[in-house]
Amino acid sequence: MISIKNGTAKIDTANTTLLLKLENRPEILYYGPRIRDEEDFSFFGSGTDGQLTTSADDIFCGACVISSGGDGSNRETMLHIVTEDGAATLRPVLCGAEAKRRKPSMRCPLPASYGETECLILRYKDEPAGLEIEQCFSVFAGSDVMAASVRLRNAGKSVLHIRRCMSLQLDLGVGDWEAVTFDGASTRERVPHRTPVEGGSLSAASFAGLSSNVHNPFVILREKSRRGGVVACNLIYSGNHRQIFDLSPLCGMRLLSGINDYLLDYSLAPGEVFESPEAVFVRAESEDAACMQMRAFAAEHILRGWWKNRERPILINSWESFLFSFDKQKLLRLCRRAAAAGIELFVLDDGWFGERNSDCCSLGDWKANERKLGGSLRSFADDVRACGLQFGIWMEPEMVSRNSDLFRAHPEYALTLPGREPMEIRRQIVLDLTKPAVRSWMIGAVSAVIEESGAVYVKWDCNRGLFDLPASGELFYRYTLGLYEVLDTLTKKFPQVLFESCASGGNRFDLGMLCFTPQIWASDNTDARSRLAIQEGTLCGYPQSAMGAHVGTSPNPHTFDRSSMDTRFTVASAGAFGYELDITELDDAQCEAIRAQTDFYKKWRKVLQFGDYYRTDSVFEGEAGGWIVVSKDKSEAVASVALTGRRSNAIPFRARFRGLDPDTLYRVRSRPQKWAEDISFTAYGDALCNGNLRLGCLFNAEEVSRFSGAVITRMFTIERVK
Ligand code: GLA
Repeated sequence: MISIKNGTAKIDTANTTLLLKLENRPEILYYGPRIRDEEDFSFFGSGTDGQLTTSADDIFCGACVISSGGDGSNRETMLHIVTEDGAATLRPVLCGAEAKRRKPSMRCPLPASYGETECLILRYKDEPAGLEIEQCFSVFAGSDVMAASVRLRNAGKSVLHIRRCMSLQLDLGVGDWEAVTFDGASTRERVPHRTPVEGGSLSAASFAGLSSNVHNPFVILREKSRRGGVVACNLIYSGNHRQIFDLSPLCGMRLLSGINDYLLDYSLAPGEVFESPEAVFVRAESEDAACMQMRAFAAEHILRGWWKNRERPILINSWESFLFSFDKQKLLRLCRRAAAAGIELFVLDDGWFGERNSDCCSLGDWKANERKLGGSLRSFADDVRACGLQFGIWMEPEMVSRNSDLFRAHPEYALTLPGREPMEIRRQIVLDLTKPAVRSWMIGAVSAVIEESGAVYVKWDCNRGLFDLPASGELFYRYTLGLYEVLDTLTKKFPQVLFESCASGGNRFDLGMLCFTPQIWASDNTDARSRLAIQEGTLCGYPQSAMGAHVGTSPNPHTFDRSSMDTRFTVASAGAFGYELDITELDDAQCEAIRAQTDFYKKWRKVLQFGDYYRTDSVFEGEAGGWIVVSKDKSEAVASVALTGRRSNAIPFRARFRGLDPDTLYRVRSRPQKWAEDISFTAYGDALCNGNLRLGCLFNAEEVSRFSGAVITRMFTIERVK
């Protein structure tokens, strides 16, 4: 509900209110649990209480939703605009506020949230610069998440240079703030870090053209000791982003979320419009509640299309099994074994095209290597289907190898600079998606592969960032728009193809990609212990169905740790599930174990992929990790516990479930595992969520000695007793 009256705009979500005083520079009077309409708001807000002096402090101490260079702010600001006549000053003035049923749709190919019920538009003007600003806040039924964006229009006569345009500014006031950022690197993505912001500012940003594994755009702000609650924020964008936590000693915390202004200099010609991506944010009483809201929002208002609510197939991917070294026989042997084990989809990863037997060549030459595949791509895909599996394929469309027919024919497609050798990373160069010719080539190349093979799944990889940078200051933004245009065209052309995005694992795991690709490969690291951390971090901001998770080989090629089949299964079943190992090398017992796993996963797939996820123990807080996913009607659930450490004579682990209906009687059963004690008992939801559950003996000497140092896991199903 959005209401505008008595000079205030009141934005209500299901459980929160954001109240804005509509003056020249709108002030946030309140952001917290939902409040009534008829109140005297004159005592709300920060006001200045007369303490402002002539010094270098901010000249306005109120909590704002907009700020700009030269407006009197002595801190990080939302907008930096430079005019042709050399001014970097902007003092926008509110000139209108309007509540609408629908937010204005994006003109450029930026993806956005959908399904909003209402939107508040604030209009500002800066006459001297000739700039019009439209700021938009949208609300969604049943959710506390809001979406915010800005649109800049050059209403003047000369070019404006956009040096910074953040999507959201949220001033949250004075408090003892702690920022939670999700940081990492390839093979250790999205680890939550807590940083008290006690002075100055902290920024979580990316710089190489991808949202990155270094700092994810999803962030949380928590007021540690007071009742300020928690604010979580994310950005629907896949390029360089920046999340700024700026603490002013006088005015408190400012959260800014948007495109990174690193090397940004966007020329806005008279009459033109620049659109920011949407930031989405939520205010909740706890971190858990904020994360729950964000997952539900992504599932309902970001994921879209055919696969949104469809159960995702169990796949087997050839990469960890064979890398580049395979032939038709090897692959089909794998497929036959996989089909017998209940796997549904085979994904032919890197190495199937051109002369690609290592990473030194052929990117861009998306024609099958018929020697390796024993014939055309079509006939190979048909052979896979004849084994009883669907066919999926890997591509890395944004890249070109120097040693490729594409580069020889079209060197101008690559992102290069005159007089300078392009930087090669993993022996590949980035294609310049800002160019229309490159975009139409890419759409044609990917379409041809899908059409020829009949693929129902495409793994869209991207294994490096952008480092050959022209002076223009528009490259990163326009590259991202170019990528979105290509993805938009392809996903509309092939609406039933399941696209899974990947970038050296999880180097582009964000809400922008999720608007096109319903799944993202979380990490190249499939080691159980590492994955527990990566997945726990990822699931703070993203739903399970969006997170690719596979059973890999043991010992793991990244960590060399060993873990049991059961453990690898338990860990991977937290996401969109598959296998990534050479199952032709397994003995019959292990293949039967896989059959039992796929049977189990299929039976529980809906609740695993689409149920409400609750973390029950954190691997970042102790020696155990755990989660439970509960069906929407709370009639069934699946839970997992993982012990990551063992100490002699340690206090025995006791679990507590969450999310169950307190008044429902449930039967809890362990999933049969090789070394686990089978348990089965009944209890009411309230007891299961509040008691200390001794879930059988979690220590089996044989399992521990075989997989020394590894993770021990158990899984449980929980069903309403009829
Ligand atoms: C990246 C991906 C892997 C695999 C390889 C293939 O590293 O993350 O999963 O597809 O590329 O080269």
